[in-house]
Amino acid sequence: MAKVFLGFMGSGKSTIAERLDKNYVDMDVVITERLGMSIAKYFEEKGEASFRQIESQVLAELLSQDIVLSTGGGVVISEANRKLLAKNSPNIYLSADFESLYQRLSQDQENQRPLFLNQSKASLKRLYEQRLPLYEAVATQIIDVIGKKPEEIVEMLS
Ligand code: S3P
Repeated sequence: MAKVFLGFMGSGKSTIAERLDKNYVDMDVVITERLGMSIAKYFEEKGEASFRQIESQVLAELLSQDIVLSTGGGVVISEANRKLLAKNSPNIYLSADFESLYQRLSQDQENQRPLFLNQSKASLKRLYEQRLPLYEAVATQIIDVIGKKPEEIVEMLS
């Protein structure tokens, strides 16, 4: 089984996964390779629904492996994905309040996230509120990341 990191965009899933294991697998990177273009471009050209199908395929493939896995923030939307995740352990949910995440996302120039760039703060907040219970439903461990340094979070996991 995989050691899975879950959480909203900007919660630090990849940062923590990488600190835990430099050979961690980032789902968004695997998906980007499969798409042959950036996620932002794919959203524009093919739409979110098509992205979600590929995301589900990649999740199913990776969950069976013995790896540290950083997921995309929307992986819990699909009921099929949640069923798969429910059979996995550990699923570590990195939780944070919306305002802190929004600040982090606003400062992140490197990662072009279509769902952040193409909607208002209010609608992003609604997305956050819809997803919270979904992360909680499949989490085996919840860590509030705000106010903690990456090394403290890693320490809590070992
Ligand atoms: C998404 C989050 C992104 C990426 C895609 C969709 C989402 O991953 O999978 O842009 O729906 O929340 P990160 O959570 O790593 O930013």
